Amino acid sequence: MSDRVIPPRLSIEEILIPAERIRHRVAELAEQIGRDYQGRDLVLVGALKGAIMFLADLSRALPIPHRLEFLQAASYGNGQSSSGEVKVADVTGDLKGYDVLLVEDIYDTGLTIRTLLERLRAKHPASLEVCTFLVKNHPHNVPVPLKYTGFHVPDLFVVGYGLDYAQHYRNLPYVGVARKAEG
Ligand code: IMP
Repeated sequence: MSDRVIPPRLSIEEILIPAERIRHRVAELAEQIGRDYQGRDLVLVGALKGAIMFLADLSRALPIPHRLEFLQAASYGNGQSSSGEVKVADVTGDLKGYDVLLVEDIYDTGLTIRTLLERLRAKHPASLEVCTFLVKNHPHNVPVPLKYTGFHVPDLFVVGYGLDYAQHYRNLPYVGVARKAEG
């Protein structure tokens, strides 16, 4: 059987966050993080794959030296409903004694971030904080400490700027509300 992912037919119902607003907010966050971590051994750990665009832009805007590392999380299948299970592959690089900032795409139920934090904590960083691009106003959030947040979005399925539907639409330069195309 083929593993090929068929491009889903979606329409973008509404652009929630245009590219220009994203650029502006990422610059603000980078400035704030730069101030907070000045003189420290910062490592940005990006959660694959959803955080790649945010991580790349944040890193380029960050005015202080830092390393980039990655870990892979998967909680959704190829659709819009969460399986409730979070799979995590091992994190790249040495984190022991470093100031680690987990960079995530979206805080929905919070299950993913909580699981990733447990995994990162086991690597004995000097400090561990979270920077999430989006926070979804979801009724059943697992509480996790979020040090930096980009934008709040309503409890709708969104795509773009790294966020996918069935592995597609990550490349959109904005965040939009996705709706399955009719027919
Ligand atoms: P949580 O564990 O429920 O917080 O889900 C977090 C993960 O689910 C994120 O890292 C995303 O990969 C995915 N996710 C949650 N909501 C959306 C969405 O609206 N669009 C695309 N992916 C989402």
